[in-house]
Amino acid sequence: MTDSGNYSWRGGFCIEVSPIPNTIVIFGASGDLAHRKLLPALFSLYSNKLFHEKSRIVGFARTPMDDNAFRDKVAESLKDKAKNFPPALLGEFLKKIYYVSGEYENPESYKLLSERLIDIDCKNCISTGRIYYLSIPSALYSPVVKLLGDAGLVTENQSGIPWRHVVIEKPFGRDLESAEKLDFELRSVLKERQIYRIDHYLGKETVQNILMLRFANRIFEPVWNNNYIDHVQITAAETVGVEHRAGYYDNAGLLRDMFQNHMLEMMGLVAMEAPAAFDADSVRNEKVKLLKSIRPFNLKELDKNIVRAQYASGKIGASAVPGYLEEPDIKQSSKTETYSCAKMMIDNWCWQGVPFFLRSGKRLEKRVSEIAITFKKIPHSIFDPIRAEDLAPNTLVLNVQPDEGLALTIQAKQPGPKLCMGSLSMSFKYSDVIEGEKPEAYERLLLDCMLGDQTLFIRSDSIELAWSIFTPVLKTWEERPETCPLCTYPAGSWGPTEADELMRRNNVIWRRP
Ligand code: BG6
Repeated sequence: MTDSGNYSWRGGFCIEVSPIPNTIVIFGASGDLAHRKLLPALFSLYSNKLFHEKSRIVGFARTPMDDNAFRDKVAESLKDKAKNFPPALLGEFLKKIYYVSGEYENPESYKLLSERLIDIDCKNCISTGRIYYLSIPSALYSPVVKLLGDAGLVTENQSGIPWRHVVIEKPFGRDLESAEKLDFELRSVLKERQIYRIDHYLGKETVQNILMLRFANRIFEPVWNNNYIDHVQITAAETVGVEHRAGYYDNAGLLRDMFQNHMLEMMGLVAMEAPAAFDADSVRNEKVKLLKSIRPFNLKELDKNIVRAQYASGKIGASAVPGYLEEPDIKQSSKTETYSCAKMMIDNWCWQGVPFFLRSGKRLEKRVSEIAITFKKIPHSIFDPIRAEDLAPNTLVLNVQPDEGLALTIQAKQPGPKLCMGSLSMSFKYSDVIEGEKPEAYERLLLDCMLGDQTLFIRSDSIELAWSIFTPVLKTWEERPETCPLCTYPAGSWGPTEADELMRRNNVIWRRP
């Protein structure tokens, strides 16, 4: 048991895992993701003894550099993080890192990579596995995987030993057709068990906690259905704008960037039925079953159930910020949405009639992601003259970020001789029970990839189902924009007024987290 502030962990069961020696090849090793997320996550795993002593990291990118120059760059990226550890640790970690320079579409580079990997694996007696992390533009996924295949770098024997895993990040296509094409190309080289499609939201502590909360406790599941739940709101709000990603974002937009993946994944975890076991197939089968039950949008009255909007200039805190169209490299005529909200329904026994309201946007008032479950009002009040409809319903809020934790609001008597009732929130924050740094989503995901556990990775069928929900919407927006006009909202607000109207029509209001 560890005590911290007002909370304490009692007991505790850990599913022990042992790190396995393997080589991790990072394509795009000089890029932002590698230096901001992947290498720091690997260093954290190393410091937690979850990265095997024999394991090695190989950076692959176009920039010509030798091992030492790459190690210097990695040292620079890790310098702040390393301050929290004994000074020798970073030095030891850096010794495990190598670098190969090459062209992503040149077969010769893969020969060179192969020779280097054989050499590194032999010297370090690594015979178990290899991860290829494709931290590169998605247009390169198919060519790189093909060339890895041609060079024999992803060949496994029948029983998958030594294993070869390939990790890819979204976007997995930009609509159903392109997702199917990408999948076909990947699967003509790799088996599904070799493909690790990352949705970093699934590595977040609170998102992982959804299944623990629901299936390791007795008290929630009996009320987790349309008999007790009135509606669910899922929010992923950001204060940042498009930043330096105009090239990608202006072609994608919010629905592709956040809804088709992170938002739907969160909805899936909240709404799926109990899997038979906590393993990749069981969990992902349940998710797919749920996705199949989501009601398609009625394209004839799209604007009643989904709103799209773009931010205009405004203020984030005290700072004035430009509108989307004034951002660098954004086309003046751009109709790309930076905000969307939708009412989604699930047609199954458990959720019939319970709306799920999803919203996400850039340049909103506050950075916050949360899942808020609002229960039905009590059927009758015995506290006359206080009426049932006067009492706020219970809500359970899972705070995904930045204050990871959860809060349950209940009605309670206010102390004093008179009968006064009010809403009381019982809340818990992870930061109060975690000592030191919070684990990054990528740590868990990289570890799982080393362990061959695909539970938190996306299977191809769920990607296609997700696209089949949103592709018709995207097509309608493109082909018949007048059916769902692009609205605007001032930066620093909570979105367009049309989003509030959508809720008003459903007799609810958006939460102000
Ligand atoms: C990414 C999107 O997948 O998620 C970004 O491409 C977005 O546009 C980011 O900013 C949000 O992630 P997080 O972890 O900061 O909520």
